[in-house]
Amino acid sequence: MSGGSFSKVGVVGLGTMGAGIAEVLARGGLAVVGIEINDEALERGRGHLDRSTGRAVKRGKLTEAEQREILDRITLSTAFADLADCDLVIEAVPERLDLKRRVFAELDQVCRKDAVLATNTSSLSVTEIATSTARPSQIVGVHFFNPAPVMKLVEVIGTVLTEPAAIARVADLVRSLGKTPVTVGDRAGFVANRLLFGYLNQAAAMYESGHATLADIDTAMKVGAGLPMGPFTLMDLIGLDTCLEVLEAIYRESRDRRHAPAPVLRELVTAGLLGRKTGRGFYPYD
Ligand code: CAA
Repeated sequence: MSGGSFSKVGVVGLGTMGAGIAEVLARGGLAVVGIEINDEALERGRGHLDRSTGRAVKRGKLTEAEQREILDRITLSTAFADLADCDLVIEAVPERLDLKRRVFAELDQVCRKDAVLATNTSSLSVTEIATSTARPSQIVGVHFFNPAPVMKLVEVIGTVLTEPAAIARVADLVRSLGKTPVTVGDRAGFVANRLLFGYLNQAAAMYESGHATLADIDTAMKVGAGLPMGPFTLMDLIGLDTCLEVLEAIYRESRDRRHAPAPVLRELVTAGLLGRKTGRGFYPYD
């Protein structure tokens, strides 16, 4: 498989999403440079990659030799300078505009002048990120869904400043990875989250009103609407902090009450109960 017109891709931030994206790229035969802020975070990223590919080996989807080949394609580093010869860099750091703008300003300095720089943001303005660089025509959004190795959709976001060729190259890359791109404009929530999160927020409000239990709402939507997961299982998978950020961003832009975050969501986030990743969200996990 080839990565379209890209052959070496950087991924900045190796949390759940970044590590998943790095795995998808390496599975697609691309050379990947994975960057984290320090050695401890880098080891956590290595852990995500080992576990995710290890799960595929256990399920008989990969041989151990193939797992090794995939992992060998990924170079891990804490030095941005190692991104100097990448032709695409995908940023997947936490959802804070100041942090993302700083990362992009630095990428703009170290990366090749013709490199495309992409953000995996799910809630921030790609345009605001683009204007932290001197190459806004080469900045795109590339929004993967969780879990990245499994979910087939990738939203490719262009701003009013993005050159159409950059959008087309990234959409080609997505197709070459066996995923389905949709190209969308820079609006909070893009397409999928803009539609999905109104529903998730209404589920949280329904639970808060005492109308039905968590488990019964989940069962109703899973069994009755044919969804792979009910809304609370899904929010726990996404991370309640991310859910709150996405809702706040859509609400800020739309002022649509359906997106005003349900108080229970804010309460759980304040309490540090963020879902599967912290061992408890709407549900407990062991
Ligand atoms: N990482 C890697 N692979 C994973 C995985 C993970 N975290 N979770 C599951 N998988 C893989 C499994 O290994 C398995 O692979 P194979 O078929 O190749 O063996 C496959 O996914 C199915 O897994 P399971 O049989 O264990 O479980 P399942 O059938 O219940 O599927 C699921 C799990 C794919 C997560 C499914 O429940 C699902 O599609 N849920 C909905 C997920 C969804 O809607 N995500 C989008 C959230 S919104 C978002 O991400 C946007 C945002 O900006 C917040």
